[in-house]
This record gives sequence, structure tokens and C-alpha cells, in this order.
Amino acid sequence: MSHLTDDEELRITEALFPDTYEVQGSGRPPFKVIYDKDPSSVKGHTVYHLNKDLLPYILTAIGAMKEGASFRQVGEYVTEKCGFAFSYESCRRLFNLVCEHYPDWKDHRAQAHGASKNNIQSKTYKDKNKREEAQKRSQLKRKMTNLKKEYDQLIEKKEEKEKLADLDNNVEVIGGAINRGRKDEAPVIFKPNEGPQTDFLSATEREVLYGGAAGGGKSYALIADPVRYFGNKNFNGILLRRTNDELREIIWKTQELYPQVYKGAKWSERKSQWNFPSGARLWLTYLDRDEDVLRYQGQAFNWIGFDELTQNPTPFTWDYMRSRLRSTDPSLPLCMRATTNPGGPGHGWVKKMFIDPSPANTKFCATELESGEPLVYPETHAKAGEPLFFRRFIPATLKDNPYLYDEGAYEANLLSLPEQQRRQLLEGDWMIADGAAFSEFSIRTHVVEPFDIPNTWRKFRSCDFGYSTYSAVLWFAIDPAYETLIVYRELYVSKKTARELARLVLDAEAGDKISYGVLDSSTWHKRGHTGPSIAEEMIAEGCRWRPSDRTSGSRIAGKNRLHELLKFDEEIEQAGIVFFDTCRQTISDLQVIPSDKKGTDDIDPRFASDHTYDALRYGIMSRPRSKSLFDFGEDMSKTDWQPFDKVFGY
Ligand SMILES: Nc1ncnc2c1ncn2[C@@H]1O[C@H](COP(=O)(O)OP(=O)(O)OP(=O)(O)O)[C@@H](O)[C@H]1O
Ligand SMILES: [Mg+2]
Repeated sequence: MSHLTDDEELRITEALFPDTYEVQGSGRPPFKVIYDKDPSSVKGHTVYHLNKDLLPYILTAIGAMKEGASFRQVGEYVTEKCGFAFSYESCRRLFNLVCEHYPDWKDHRAQAHGASKNNIQSKTYKDKNKREEAQKRSQLKRKMTNLKKEYDQLIEKKEEKEKLADLDNNVEVIGGAINRGRKDEAPVIFKPNEGPQTDFLSATEREVLYGGAAGGGKSYALIADPVRYFGNKNFNGILLRRTNDELREIIWKTQELYPQVYKGAKWSERKSQWNFPSGARLWLTYLDRDEDVLRYQGQAFNWIGFDELTQNPTPFTWDYMRSRLRSTDPSLPLCMRATTNPGGPGHGWVKKMFIDPSPANTKFCATELESGEPLVYPETHAKAGEPLFFRRFIPATLKDNPYLYDEGAYEANLLSLPEQQRRQLLEGDWMIADGAAFSEFSIRTHVVEPFDIPNTWRKFRSCDFGYSTYSAVLWFAIDPAYETLIVYRELYVSKKTARELARLVLDAEAGDKISYGVLDSSTWHKRGHTGPSIAEEMIAEGCRWRPSDRTSGSRIAGKNRLHELLKFDEEIEQAGIVFFDTCRQTISDLQVIPSDKKGTDDIDPRFASDHTYDALRYGIMSRPRSKSLFDFGEDMSKTDWQPFDKVFGY
């Protein structure tokens, strides 16, 4: 039964609980417990209707709060009646809102609350002695609580002092923040450059990307970022690069910096790890393939750094490592820090995650990669609707790094690059991949985890040959159910002669039953290194090919065919072509290939990284069918195969 009058109920309902609520984006009514989502709501625009059956419970709850019931009890009551978690805090919020209309209810509640307590007391402690005893006990309790508080504060101060003393023994690390009071004596080993480097080192968001021009001082800032925690015994950090060679560069830099900053810092080559006198650890390691992250299963880190994030073709590793980010020490914040240049196989997803959602150098709520929707706590959570965590993108340019910029030679090197690379590496331009020719290509739809391809599925391959640039070879399988093409392997190599490439191809496909191969037809005319044409040389190695279609208009026809294949067929719920996620180069190229700015139907002819795309075109234009009359033979990959004719192969 509600303690409110009819009049009060009506006024509160009108003021706080309208019949319908329309919200944009991820918004929601303030007390969603008693609202039902309209099934006709569309994404980004949701309509809620008041559930009139549940409203009386809320009004009863308000009445009870007015009469002094505890917020916790009321929360439990609403949770039980409405079937949704309604917290202590929600009750307080609700009551405060009501008090905006009935300001004197606050006092009323306070009195009622006190009265109800007194009532209980007077009932329970009728005996005067008992009451005095209880009063004494509560006084003592209060005293003890205050003493404990004082004690905790003293301990905290002591720890703070110890920490400062510890830092004082070292040198000024982050721009003078650490070596308080002894500036004159200690040499400055690292001082962040003004601007983005300082912004990066002082960012407080959970995930921060420092990205842009080459030489901006990004990697250096990344290795300096965790230094502030090396005095904490609970610190466990990890810094990742894509390959071992690239990692070496970082290791050298840390070997220059860390021992100067923390005397007694020890580098273990065997473990590839820094150990600091406090017990803090920083592991420097590489991730060659996405699957390598499984090495970190079951481990916990409070600082995770990625250098050159776009070298990761998919967000898999970044997302996986987030699951390793946790700490039992509340004084250590959880951080994921990354640096990168634009471009690279992961340009597309990195841009979507960090650059697109918000203007540079602003804090924003992390968003879901594909939909762009903010990531918030689910409705059943006490923090329903609040952001899960925040991100920030800090752009870098070469000018920000006086250590390199002032010399000028490096700038001149970057100025000499072709336009696309120059804009990415000198100006840190992320937009270069905009105007992508295959904007419909999406990781979610077109990239799949590798699976075992049945032996009965027809397989073939295609190749674009380039010695000084790159050769790309793609292997396709055809799913006979819907003639879906599966690009299941890629080979992307540079500086391989025709014979070397042929051997690599045969090795890669050993055990596969390849029906046919299609190769850039111009290689039948181009000379190899020893006289015969490139195609002839490959064929002579036992790697057979037929020439690709080179008729006029074949480029545009190939592009149109790819668009057709990329279309998502609602009926069979898949696209006409999918790629194993191991085909990294192809996936990254497809995301960034620009369309021709001059408005032709082709891709931008200036785009250099088109080798996988060309191979893809040759493959899809070879009229692949799950059963084909044009097959060379059943198993071309037998190594004992000899061409009938050394020149023409067939
Ligand atoms: N705050 C600093 N103090 C001293 N030297 C610095 C500082 N910042 C950068 N440098 C110097 O500038 C060099 C280049 O910086 P760094 O390698 O971090 O650039 P980058 O942005 O990672 O470049 P790239 O894009 O090529 O990876 C470093 O090796 C370091 O010697
Ligand atoms: Mg770098």
C-alpha cells in the first residue's frame, strides 16, 4: 500500500514517468525498470512505453522512502517486484528527483528515519542501564573507527614518503614530475618533447594510441611510459612488436634508457624481460602470428604496450590482450598503450577504433568496431548504460620531435617518398585510405577463421609476379554448396626469381589437389633471369599455370566481379567470397585500395600495393566452378610431374 495521496501519485507520475520515452543512440529512460522497449524501435532511435502494471510498485517505493524506509530495503523491494536490479543508488536518485517537486520530503524522511530508529530503540532498550551500556559501546566503537582512520592515513603518508624517497634516488624521469626537490643534482635522462609526447605520457584513458608521422618520437615515448611504475613491486608489463627484428630496436632503446633511470635494473636475454630492484617486471616480446597471443593465456598485466599497432592485420591481438589486463594493486592503473604510423595491414581497423569515433586528442567512450555504437554496461548491470572504458588518439608529426626534426635529413628522406607514403609517414595522414574502392569489404562478413577444407572441394591458385616489388600467390577453394570462393592461403614475397617462387608455391601446396593455376599473362613475354620467360621458368620447375585474361576491359570486369562476389547474399547468409584470416596482406590491401580519383571504374592506378588484388582478379576471372572441364589434371602438385613441353608447359 502506498503512503502517497492520489494527488501526490498523479503529480509524481506526470513529472517523472511519461507514458512514452523516445531516446536517440544508446540513451535510455532514467528509470528503465518500469519501461518496455517498443519492438518497432530501430537502431539509434528507441521508443519505450511505461509499464503501468509496475508503476504502482515504484510509487509504493517512493512512499516508503518518504516514510523513512532504507534505500537498500526499498531497492530490494523494487528488484523483487519488477524483476530488474534496482540499486541503492537508484533509490537515492529517485528520491532526490521526487524531492525536487516536494522539497520538504527530505526533512520528513530524515525525521521519519530517525523516529523509526528511536522507536526500535525504545522498544528494545526499555531498561535504562542497558541503554547507557549501549551508548557507551557505540561511543567506543566511534572512537575506534576514528583511530583506525588516523592510523590508515599515517600509513598512507609513510608509503607516499617511501615512494618519493625511492624516486628521489633515481633521476628525473617524466618531465621533472618524479625527482621532486633535487632537480639541480640529478641529470635529466628523459624529458618528453612538448606537445603530443607529453600528452601521451599524461593520458589517463584505458586505451591510448599515439599515431602519425614517422620519427615523431612515438616508440621512445612508449618505452618511457611504464617507467613511472618500475618502483612498484606489483607492476607487470608487456611490450609487443610484430617481429623479432623490430623488437630488437626497442630492446636497444630500453637498454640505453632503463639502467640509467633505475640503477640495478637487470635485462634477462633468456626471458626477454626487465627486472627492477622493486620486483617490477617488463616483458619485451613479439607476436609473429595472431595465435601467438595464446602464450599469454592465464597471465595478468597492468600495462600492455604495442609498438606499430597497424602491423597487426586484425584487432584480434589487441582485443585478446585486453582480456589479460588486470591488477590486484589498486595503486596501479590499467593501461593499454599503442604507437603506430598510418598505413600497414591494420590501417583500417586501427582507424575505426581510434581515429574515426572522436576528434584527435579528446577522451571518448570506446565504441564497437563495426557498428560504431558506444560500449556500455548491459542493462542488467548496476552501472547500466555507463561507458565500459575510454579511449584517446594522440596524433604525432615529425615536427614534434626536435631530436630528429632539427637535423632535417630525415625530413628530406620522407619528402622524397611517393605521395601516399609521404602523406602517411611525414604528415601522419590517416585519411589516405579513405575513398576505398571496396568499402563493402568488412572483416566481420568476409574474413573467416581457417577450417579444414574437404578434399572433394575444387582448388586452384592465381599469381601476380613481381621480382623487385612483390609476388602474390593466392589459393582458392570452391564450396560446392553455393559455389562460394574461399581464399585459403596467400604467399606474398619479394625478390624471388620465377624458379624460386615456383618452388615456394609447390612447397606451400604440397598435399593439396590443385586443379589449375592462373598467372599474369604478361609473364609469358617477360624475360626471366636466365633467358626463358618467367612463366616458362616456373613451368619448367613443375609449377603449371595458364595465362590470365588480359583483354581490354578485363581490369574493370575483374573489379566488377569482385564487387559482385563481396555482396552479402541474405538468403544463404554469406558473401560470394571469403578469406581465411591468415591471408593478411590480401585482407589489409582490400581495405585500403583507393578508387580512381579521376572517376573511372578502376582502382587508383597510383596505388602501389596492388599485387594481392591483381592475383585476386586473375583468380576470380578464371571462371571458377566446383566442377570444371578446363582442369589441367587432378593433382598438379605432384613433384614428379614433368611438363610435356618445357616451353609451353601443357
Ligand atoms: N623525449 C625524447 N628525448 C630524447 N630523445 C628522444 C625523445 N623523443 C624521441 N627521441 C629520439 O628520437 C628518435 C626517434 O624517435 P622514435 O623512434 O620514438 O620515433 P617514432 O615516432 O617511433 O618513429 P617511427 O614512426 O619511425 O617508428 C628516438 O630514437 C630518440 O633517440
Ligand atoms: Mg617507432
